[in-house]
Amino acid sequence: MNALIIGGSGGIGQAFVEHFLEQSNIEQIHATYHQRLPEHSDPRIQWHQVDVTREADIENLCAQVDGIDFCINAVGMLHDDVHGPEKSTRQIDADYFFKSMAVNALPTLLLAKHMVPHFKHKRPAIFATVSARVGSIEENYLGGWYSYRASKAALNMLLKTLSIEWKRSLPNVTVAALHPGTTNTRLSSPFHKNVPSDQLFEPAQSVSYMMQVIGHLAPQHSGKFWSFDGEVLPW
Ligand SMILES: NC(=O)c1ccc[n+]([C@@H]2O[C@H](COP(=O)([O-])OP(=O)(O)OC[C@H]3O[C@@H](n4cnc5c(N)ncnc54)[C@H](OP(=O)(O)O)[C@@H]3O)[C@@H](O)[C@H]2O)c1
Repeated sequence: MNALIIGGSGGIGQAFVEHFLEQSNIEQIHATYHQRLPEHSDPRIQWHQVDVTREADIENLCAQVDGIDFCINAVGMLHDDVHGPEKSTRQIDADYFFKSMAVNALPTLLLAKHMVPHFKHKRPAIFATVSARVGSIEENYLGGWYSYRASKAALNMLLKTLSIEWKRSLPNVTVAALHPGTTNTRLSSPFHKNVPSDQLFEPAQSVSYMMQVIGHLAPQHSGKFWSFDGEVLPW
């Protein structure tokens, strides 16, 4: 089996790469980085530099992979050098909003577009993106974080819609949105202050939980939003 990890240089993405490296039935792992190339020299890994906001990069990546069984997108942004998640409308900045959409939502759809030929093998396959529970509209009790929440809600809608198309055209593929739990990475580090230590996972732990969820998925489960603990989250 072969795995493709988009964002293999991130905290959660690297833990996915390491998880698949430990599986003896995985022949090849394609993984992407954007700015930071991780130090992994295992011959089963092939690294690709990809900016997910550029469709040409995604198309070029997909042209270099073959016969993928697990395609997992772990790219995401919550803050950049200038912006953080908004506490009120006073902080809304159109550029940050559009950047959040461009990094967190659209790439999964572009990836789906260019991955279609690689799922024609008819083996059961997984197409999953790491979303976030704060993207649930139903569970939005606290407000704030407009751009991140909106981009993850958009991502969830894209995955749900894709699952309906692929139930007809690629019925072997299970489409899933995954919530990893609060995980100790660069993305979450500015927000750890109020997180109880037993609710802050190391990346390997959150990936092990998400892989347990993925391990139970079959095409009839396609188009759902899964928490790391196996709960189906409301959209
Ligand atoms: N950590 C948490 O508590 C938490 C909670 C809920 C959901 N999530 C979600 O989990 C996913 C993984 O986040 P993380 O915590 O592992 O964050 P992270 O350590 O900051 O990793 C982010 C990844 O995104 C990549 N990336 C960013 N912009 C990119 C671009 N334009 N093109 C290609 N790659 C790009 C980074 O690549 P480079 O490093 O090479 O630049 C890196 O691989 C995200 O979708 C996040 O929203 C995380």
